[in-house]
Amino acid sequence: MSKKFDAIVKREKSLLCNTYGRYPLAVSRASGCRLYDLDGEEYLDFLSGIAVCSLGHSRADLAQVMAEQATKLVHVSNLFYQEPQLDLAEKLLGTCAAGKVFFCNSGAEANEGAIKLARRYMHKVRNEDRHEIITLEKSFHGRTLSTLTATGQSGPIKDGFNPLPEGFVTVPFGNVNALRGAINAHTAAIMIEMVQGEGGVRPLPSDYVADIVALCKENGILLIVDEVQTGLCRTGRFWAHQHYGIVPDIFTSAKALANGLPMGAVLCTDELARGFEPGSHATTFGGGGVVSAVAAKVVDIMLEEKLAERALAMGDFARGEAERLMAKHPGKIVGTRGLGLLFGIELACDGPAVWRGLLEKKVVCNLTQGTILRLVPPLVVEKADIEAFMNVLGEVLDTLPA
Ligand SMILES: Cc1ncc(COP(=O)(O)O)c(C=O)c1O
Repeated sequence: MSKKFDAIVKREKSLLCNTYGRYPLAVSRASGCRLYDLDGEEYLDFLSGIAVCSLGHSRADLAQVMAEQATKLVHVSNLFYQEPQLDLAEKLLGTCAAGKVFFCNSGAEANEGAIKLARRYMHKVRNEDRHEIITLEKSFHGRTLSTLTATGQSGPIKDGFNPLPEGFVTVPFGNVNALRGAINAHTAAIMIEMVQGEGGVRPLPSDYVADIVALCKENGILLIVDEVQTGLCRTGRFWAHQHYGIVPDIFTSAKALANGLPMGAVLCTDELARGFEPGSHATTFGGGGVVSAVAAKVVDIMLEEKLAERALAMGDFARGEAERLMAKHPGKIVGTRGLGLLFGIELACDGPAVWRGLLEKKVVCNLTQGTILRLVPPLVVEKADIEAFMNVLGEVLDTLPA
């Protein structure tokens, strides 16, 4: 490690709360699909800020939109009407079957808003005491008290935060009977990710999703889809739920929405939107001029450059490359999974060693659930970048025992 890196680690220890297990890398700038460390060394980025910088890093077109809006109006409060958020709303609603949107600042806040909307709709519109939210094991929905309770994982995310809010039930993944058994007279909604990202890049099987939708209909409960990681072309459709031909009552977005500026959104049907009224939900910063203008440009670029189709094609290419590598290293790679460019490589060898080996060779990706390499490169990634990633992965695997 360089002296500069040691200094930044020491400095952080004395300044910041100790909440992150950081990667041993300090990034000083980024461009396209590349990161640069403090010494100017280049890294191939197959993480994109965990599915955030989908259009690539440091784009001049987005910087220009940001600067133009910043010299016009940065913040004025949601007490006022603001055109940039309406322009964005029109564009976003044009990508899906939702009828209304609420803007906020992060994925957790979007999911918190979705949970609040589901409950309030049940209480105020349907006049029913339905408040429970059912989620799936290994799901990830955020770090606020209610979204961490909704999250179907144990460990440090939940440890030490009792009492957790009431009204959340988690059932085993893929088990329709367990889901049916968890539904009762107080159930408000089932909340799912179409592909569990943190949970190991696991797409929900189509027949399971069909059963979930049927259960929601039969029981008069709502379907909430968390598209914080899967949304905005990442999986090969603008929204991942569109692969399944379903229309959620509520779905959420964040991460890639403003390509790195903090922004989230709750999208819902017109019927569900009846659940909110003035005073029932709000945020100071959500839908501010700068983030809205940037997000509107992001949506334009994604549509113009057909990035959903590109994600699908590049995901297929990555799968082919990974399978060729699997044939060479059958005891070390045992499968591939995912949708589009939310792509997982399942390892049967020492996952952390592979991840570390990649980083040492200047390739950045994420390891989830101990053995799944999660590849979420910018959607503008080139085939040559994917080939470079797989070549380095092959070199790392060569050095490891099966
Ligand atoms: C599926 C999903 N939901 C919610 C969140 C939380 O988003 P944020 O970190 O913006 O609060 C994440 C973050 O990784 C996520 O992947």
